Amino acid sequence: MTTTHVSLTVNGRPVGAAAEPRRHLADFLREDLLLTGTHIGCEQGVCGACTLFVDGRPIRSCITPAVACQNTEVRTVEGFDDDALMQRLRAAFTRHHGLQCGFCTPGMLATAYDIVRRLPDADAARIRRELSGNLCRCTGYAGIVAAIEDVLANEPPAPAVVPLPRRTRQPDNAALQQHRYTVASDREAAPVQASSRDTLEALAQAGGPAGGVILKRSLHLDAPAESVWRVLSDVPAVVSCIPGASLEGTPQGELLQGRCIVAAGPMRATFRGSALLRLDPRQHSGRLAGQGRDRLTRSELTGTLDFRLAEVAQGGAQLDLSMVYRLKGPLAQFGRPALVEEIADQLLAEVTTNIAQKAKGAAVTSGAPLSALDLVAKALTRLFSRLLRLR
Ligand code: FES
Ligand code: FES
Repeated sequence: MTTTHVSLTVNGRPVGAAAEPRRHLADFLREDLLLTGTHIGCEQGVCGACTLFVDGRPIRSCITPAVACQNTEVRTVEGFDDDALMQRLRAAFTRHHGLQCGFCTPGMLATAYDIVRRLPDADAARIRRELSGNLCRCTGYAGIVAAIEDVLANEPPAPAVVPLPRRTRQPDNAALQQHRYTVASDREAAPVQASSRDTLEALAQAGGPAGGVILKRSLHLDAPAESVWRVLSDVPAVVSCIPGASLEGTPQGELLQGRCIVAAGPMRATFRGSALLRLDPRQHSGRLAGQGRDRLTRSELTGTLDFRLAEVAQGGAQLDLSMVYRLKGPLAQFGRPALVEEIADQLLAEVTTNIAQKAKGAAVTSGAPLSALDLVAKALTRLFSRLLRLR
């Protein structure tokens, strides 16, 4: 198999080594660089044991190809010895018995570091929510939560590891130019209980579910803005560009019913839901407010998506997206912002490529399973197996 020479900085030291395209960062660090502090549990992006920092952001190294880390700055659990905040966290974990076997601890510490620097006012409930993507089989979590609370309560030192500006990635026709995530305050939006028209109206008015995560992207499409808008304002056309998605019935004015299937071998998760779509043709913008549920796992996704399209002087169109979402139920363990970012980037790259193709009059075939969600599908297979004891 062909290999690529990967050059990156690991714990402040420039390193380089050949890597096959499928080699993930965790193996690259452990086996090629002998940095075995990064632990590998599920290798599916679910357990969080392999969490470390790339360019200052927590990522799951078991689902991150090493070749995707070209010229990045990687920091593993071995690279924090001089970091005052991490020292405080380590001491607090020890004091509060936040570890037993220690298998989850490198990933827990990385996530704890991220929580402390990002959410200085987090309470125990919020810490638990943020930790939901890191699994521990020993501690019962109480000591881990107490350790993080302890550090937050005692003026934590400023973090030495901060997120670097995003690098531009260019998957196919979609250039991912900028994005960030944060959490909406409860003052910004009202809670939503069910997906009646009134509920969707309230959700649209509020601009998103209470406590929802905000995800922003700015995408470039290789097609004229007018042509792209014609696709965006044609609901069946847009839905046909989303892998695995389909409309159920004919849209009733602004109200849509639809579903999205995630196939996982013999297993399937089907999110069914309704949405309210408001378009402003003069501004080339719109807002979608929707709610969907998978009956099998009783997981629920609620959110709004704002979009605005603009002509780009150099050619093509720019689509600005802002999504506020909340995932509840068993599948919420896949809802950690960093993981959702990775999945959203892959999915958006595929969808925007399809939309640009359609805007240029080319045929689009995206009825296939969610190839961009292969990652989730694998995790779903495992989760469903456990939930339903099918394997
Ligand atoms: Fe990476 Fe489990 S080993 S998330
Ligand atoms: Fe053993 Fe967390 S301390 S898995």
